[in-house]
Amino acid sequence: MKFKQYSGKIAYITGGSSGIGLACAELLADMGADLVIFARGQQQLETSLVEIERNRVSEKQRFLAVQLDVSQREQAEKLLSKTVVDFGSPDILINSAGISYPQRFEDIPYTKFDEIMRINLNGTWNTVSILLPHMKVRGGFIINVSSVAGYIGVFGMTAYSASKFAVIGFSEALRSELKRFNISVCVLCPPDVDTPMLERAGRIKPEETKAISSSASVMKPLDVARAVIDGMGRGQFLILPGAGTKYTYFMKRLFPGLVESIIDGKIRKATQR
Ligand SMILES: NC(=O)c1ccc[n+]([C@@H]2O[C@H](COP(=O)([O-])OP(=O)(O)OC[C@H]3O[C@@H](n4cnc5c(N)ncnc54)[C@H](OP(=O)(O)O)[C@@H]3O)[C@@H](O)[C@H]2O)c1
Repeated sequence: MKFKQYSGKIAYITGGSSGIGLACAELLADMGADLVIFARGQQQLETSLVEIERNRVSEKQRFLAVQLDVSQREQAEKLLSKTVVDFGSPDILINSAGISYPQRFEDIPYTKFDEIMRINLNGTWNTVSILLPHMKVRGGFIINVSSVAGYIGVFGMTAYSASKFAVIGFSEALRSELKRFNISVCVLCPPDVDTPMLERAGRIKPEETKAISSSASVMKPLDVARAVIDGMGRGQFLILPGAGTKYTYFMKRLFPGLVESIIDGKIRKATQR
C-alpha cells in the first residue's frame, strides 16, 4: 500500500489531542488529509482541533473531534461505528492513545497495571477490530504506537513494557493477516519524546529509570510524526524514529547481553547515588 497524496484520505487518530498523536494530526492536515481525533478529555480535544485547523491546506478538508475512551469496548463500538457513518471510514488509523506509570514493580498497584493494559493494548485491539471490516473495503494503513520500551524491558516500566511488547507482537501477527486486504500494519517505537506524557512521567520516575535514558536525546513530536509519514511511504513495518533508536534496536537484537550489562551498570550507579 502506498499513497501518492494524502488529500481526500481520511485519518483516524486515537490520542490525537496531545503529543505524538496531535503532531501526526497536524502534519497530516498540512498534507491535505481529513481527520478525526479521539481522546477522553473534551476540552483538550477542542483546543487541539483548533490547532489542527490552522494547518489546513484546503477549504474542502474536514476535521472532527470525538470524545472516546478506547479501553471501553461498548463505547468504542458505538462511537467508531457512528463516526464511520457520519465521516467515512479511515484510510489511516493511528493508535497513539496511551498512558504510562513509571514506578518500581512493587509500587504499581494491580489496578494501575490493569488500566495500562486496557488502554495501551486492549484499546488498540478495540479500534482495529471495530474498524477493520470498514477498512478492508479500500485498504490503508494501521499504525500502532509502541515504544523503545516495547523491545527493551526497562527498569520502572514493568506494566508499560508489558503493554508495549504486546503491541509489537499484536502488530506483527496482524501485519501478515491484513496484507491480503491491502492494509499495511506498522508499529512505531519512539524513544523519549517531548510530550505531556514524558513530563508527567518525569515527576514520578525512579532515579534508575531516569539514568537509563539520561544520555539519549529527547525527540520533538513533529520529528516523530515525520518519521511515521516517511515509514508509511517506504512501506516499513517497524518505524524507529531517530538514529539512536535504530542503533539501540540493532544492538539489542545483535548483542542482547552487552545491552543488558550497559543498562545494569547505569542502574547500579543510580542506586549507589
Ligand atoms: N512521549 C514519549 O516519550 C513516548 C515514548 C514512546 C512511546 N510513546 C507512546 O506514544 C503514544 C502517545 O504518547 P504521548 O507522549 O503523545 O502522550 P500524551 O501527550 O499524554 O498523549 C496521549 C494521548 O492519548 C489520549 N488517551 C489516553 N488514554 C486514552 C483512552 N483511554 N482513550 C482515548 N484516548 C486516550 C490522551 O488524551 P486523554 O487523556 O484526554 O484521553 C492524549 O490525547 C502513547 O502510546 C505512548 O505510550 C510515548
